[in-house]
Amino acid sequence: MVDTLWRRLPRPIHILAPMEDVTDTVFRRIIAHCGRPDLFFTEFIHTDVVLADRRGRPGVTPRLVHTPEERPLVAQIWGNDPSSCARAAARLAQMGFDGIDLNMGCPVRKIRSKGACAGLIRRPGLAAELIAAAKEGGLPVSVKTRTGYDRHETDRWVGHLLLQRIDALTVHGRYAEQDSEEPADWREIGRAAAIAREIGVDTAVIGNGDVTSRTGIRQLARAYGLDGVMVGRGVFADPYLFATDRHPGAFQTAQAGQKVLLLRSHLRLYREVWNDTRNYEILKKFYKIYLTGFPEAEPLRERLNATHDYDTAEQVVADFLSSAPAPAPGALRPGSAFASQTEVLR
Ligand SMILES: Cc1cc2nc3c(=O)[nH]c(=O)nc-3n(C[C@H](O)[C@H](O)[C@H](O)COP(=O)(O)O)c2cc1C
Repeated sequence: MVDTLWRRLPRPIHILAPMEDVTDTVFRRIIAHCGRPDLFFTEFIHTDVVLADRRGRPGVTPRLVHTPEERPLVAQIWGNDPSSCARAAARLAQMGFDGIDLNMGCPVRKIRSKGACAGLIRRPGLAAELIAAAKEGGLPVSVKTRTGYDRHETDRWVGHLLLQRIDALTVHGRYAEQDSEEPADWREIGRAAAIAREIGVDTAVIGNGDVTSRTGIRQLARAYGLDGVMVGRGVFADPYLFATDRHPGAFQTAQAGQKVLLLRSHLRLYREVWNDTRNYEILKKFYKIYLTGFPEAEPLRERLNATHDYDTAEQVVADFLSSAPAPAPGALRPGSAFASQTEVLR
């Protein structure tokens, strides 16, 4: 076990979850600006993609792009070949990541049926080999997983992972085949932390599932004896979630201008970072995050969804901001304090 990162972080550790096509370098920087978590994760990346892109060039996938602003940053990888895993881990160590996380939780049927990600819950021997291989890279190694495959199997599965002496373990409180509509089971997550104590390992145990506020992070960590809590979709409802202990709906009631300025920062940074190298259309999923909860949100979203390039989107946003309703006395005005903060993102 490498004595770094996970032990250094403050308790409870506040973590932004890995989310494919969401938590790229741009969104991580937006979240860092709104309210920094203690730790970031990349989107999941196949070990072969870490090693070479389609043209055989190493380490050039957009998912590996990062800046010092997003550190400490853990690279999350997946795959089921220990030798590729060891080589990917070594490369990630050279690239300046702070840790490696092995995805053993993605429930997508096509992936798990091949014995990767959540499929590893049924291949504990291979899971152990992958962990040992990842450790060869020299970075701290963690695992993100679920409580079981077709039922909660926390004692068997989590117990097995903890015996591999990993630096951290994130447990999402659902099993792989469980409907995501059902609430995450925090008692099973608490059981994982209890198993760590029973075995006597000092692996940091992190809980994940349905958390929507900073207060929730603290309460759940305390109630279930956890080292930290990871939050994913909660930041869609409130990108400022890691900043303050306000109520979960606070961003929903924020001023339209504030939301649109944040969207504009995202748009500009996305363009600056990706320009033609990533599809403009991916950006549209973020419009839903920023444009909710005010009367003009829907028509504005529709206008933006009809755009197919950055310049037109910028114009739509500029038109909106120039005709935005006068703010209430004392309220945050578009173009005032918040606008100057967003300068750091440009
Ligand atoms: C759009 C999206 C993409 C995701 N991609 C990943 C991923 O790349 N790696 C991973 O381990 N989990 C991924 N997840 C799962 C999240 O990390 C997290 O475990 C899940 O959303 C539950 O946490 P939450 O209730 O706080 O959102 C993804 C989830 C979403 C919604």
